[in-house]
Amino acid sequence: MTEPEEAIRAALSSVVDPELGVGIIELGMLRDVRVDGGRAIVQLALTTIACPLRARIQDEIRSKVVAAHPGLEVGFEVVQMDASERSRAMKLARAKAAEAAPTTSIPAGSRVIAVASGKGGVGKSTITASLGVALARSGYTVGLLDADIWGFSLPKLLGVEARAAATGTAEEWRIEPIRVNVGPGELRVVSMGFLTEDKSSAIMWRGLVLNRAFQHFVEDTDWSEVDYLLIDMPPGTGDIQMGLARLLPHAGVLVVTTPHDNAGEVAMRMVDMARKGSLPVLGVVENMAYFVCEHGERHYVFGRGSTEDLCAQLSLPLLARIPLGSQEGRAEATLPERLDSDDPGDDLAAISALAQDLARTVAPIADMSGCTSRLADLERRMLSGRPGLS
Ligand SMILES: Nc1ncnc2c1ncn2[C@@H]1O[C@H](COP(=O)(O)OP(=O)(O)O)[C@@H](O)[C@H]1O
Ligand SMILES: [Mg+2]
Repeated sequence: MTEPEEAIRAALSSVVDPELGVGIIELGMLRDVRVDGGRAIVQLALTTIACPLRARIQDEIRSKVVAAHPGLEVGFEVVQMDASERSRAMKLARAKAAEAAPTTSIPAGSRVIAVASGKGGVGKSTITASLGVALARSGYTVGLLDADIWGFSLPKLLGVEARAAATGTAEEWRIEPIRVNVGPGELRVVSMGFLTEDKSSAIMWRGLVLNRAFQHFVEDTDWSEVDYLLIDMPPGTGDIQMGLARLLPHAGVLVVTTPHDNAGEVAMRMVDMARKGSLPVLGVVENMAYFVCEHGERHYVFGRGSTEDLCAQLSLPLLARIPLGSQEGRAEATLPERLDSDDPGDDLAAISALAQDLARTVAPIADMSGCTSRLADLERRMLSGRPGLS
């Protein structure tokens, strides 16, 4: 490499990919720099050739090159990374995001799963709450974070009427999740539904909470001891979705969709957003996939095949197909009650099976690092035959 080429490379070490937040050299995006006469050719490898931020990156490179070598004309050759280069870059971005992540009380070995969809009414809350109950029934301590701030539904689905308490001082406080015993395990739930309409604590922190509720639910809530933290996301691709990657870079995303027209398209946008935030997408769950009639036949009332197409297009596994459950008694019984009954229905049976799969494939990692209470806890779980711990 010639001296001017080296000087340009050095100048470009400060250029950061605006989306991934990591230097372009570190990411392997700067392939080559050549200076030929009065012209510098910069070869760039982008994660996708259609990168919407391409012009911005190029502008910044151009200004750095010109600052290092005034008078040089700057040209670009742009190529697309191959799958393994892209995966390496994403991994690096993820690791960087994790380093910069704010501190939470979530144990290092626990698993954070955000249940998301492009649109509302596809069954996110039902699936999140049922997965939580099913995992707790297997003995896990499961945090449930209701990130649907305005459309919260976990309290009702779980049949919990309670008021969450805040401990500490006005400056430094913590939300105590509502604890619900479920079989050998426990749910720890935080929802706006536990915070509103309360007169005594309202003055102290309701205002504080509303403003940045999701962040408070992540950072200022006592999530210690949880094996899983399941997040019931609001629909769409708004601020809370954007905050997810920043606040919880370890989260895996479970995408819920239905065979209805258009649901797949919006799910695709959701997946795109998760991937841009370097969040791993665990897979797709198709809800309301079919209805089993009294003769045991499957009826694909909302159509068939669109979710498989979506999965193929996005290279994602189809983790489960949840049938339509009977509407009978649905409004009266809570999810824990229904899951406790002998016949929870086709839908909840399928969600329970998904919970068992997740307990195997996305198992919490037991953290043995020196903490005796954790070791004692581990022993207790081993003795009670809890699955999924390695
Ligand atoms: N598999 C299913 N079978 C029957 N009804 C379902 C199923 N999944 C969800 N529902 C119903 O659909 C409605 C929307 O579900 P919900 O979980 O609130 O969706 P979201 O959180 O995505 O808005 C609720 O009335 C719920 O009981
Ligand atoms: Mg919901």
